[in-house]
Amino acid sequence: MSLIESALEKVRRNAGLPAAPADASARAAASGSPSTPEAEPKHVAIDWTAVRAAGYLPAEDQSRRFADHYRQIKRPLIEKALAANSPADMRLILISSAIPGDGKTFTAVNLALSMARERDISLLLVDADVPRAQASRVFGLSSAPGLMDALANESLDAESLIVRTDVRGLDILPAGRSVENATELLASTRMAQIAARMAQRNPRRLVLLDSSPLLASSEARALVRIPGQIVLVVRAGQTPRQAVLDALGHVDPKKLQGLVLNQAPVRRGDGYYYGHSNYGSAEQSSGVEPR
Ligand SMILES: Nc1ncnc2c1ncn2[C@@H]1O[C@H](COP(=O)(O)OP(=O)(O)OP(=O)(O)O)[C@@H](O)[C@H]1O
Ligand SMILES: [Mg+2]
Repeated sequence: MSLIESALEKVRRNAGLPAAPADASARAAASGSPSTPEAEPKHVAIDWTAVRAAGYLPAEDQSRRFADHYRQIKRPLIEKALAANSPADMRLILISSAIPGDGKTFTAVNLALSMARERDISLLLVDADVPRAQASRVFGLSSAPGLMDALANESLDAESLIVRTDVRGLDILPAGRSVENATELLASTRMAQIAARMAQRNPRRLVLLDSSPLLASSEARALVRIPGQIVLVVRAGQTPRQAVLDALGHVDPKKLQGLVLNQAPVRRGDGYYYGHSNYGSAEQSSGVEPR
């Protein structure tokens, strides 16, 4: 204990006040909130059958084609994120859309899997869609503590809530418990600090944030100022044109990297199936690689 700390302790004792907590977990205990779990990061083995059954993986006979699409989508995002002299916030990438059901979580999950396949990238998928927490649910993490807990309790380190997966290079920060003041928390300075720390932690780490819809929730509008890159998902033939234009009005054009046209009908043989159209350039395809 430093001279100043012992002096303060003496003043406290003389005034009959409780002793100063020694560390973050003691502070949390003193405030009655849960203590910081300083243990090793938690792990989850991804249940691929459950993810597919929930509808968040392409049908098996389309996985190669989808892998190609996500390669095209991720490439410019990665290049900008890792460019020399790129600010750390360029490694924060927000996936949003105008209205519910456009395919934000589907895009975030599949883009995260695709990005995690890059040899020298660590991908952190953050479930920032607190009202729905669908990404957390897809990976069996709906009851795990996460972003909201770290926002609500300043003594909790968000990093300690990150869950490692058995996919090499893929970690997840679940949404955590649902709170009433989610918008205020997501708009707070602490959210900006947590996001900045997540990005600064590792220069090879990309942070992909799955968010709620811009026009249907104030949470997403609170988040848009944080990332350096934003991708808007549009559901082909479904998202009304005006809704897309209104959503674009909430996004800094310098941060907008492109629109992902989701569930666009793609001609195959003598019919159509619903696939994934996008921006960017084509590359080779392959599947998800285990750690
Ligand atoms: N490209 C796709 N191919 C097949 N199914 C898809 C595709 N994109 C989305 N879906 C399905 O559409 C539904 C809505 O998708 P998703 O949950 O990703 O939307 P969202 O924008 O995240 O919705 P919300 O605004 O409620 O969070 C889900 O059932 C998902 O499985
Ligand atoms: Mg979603």
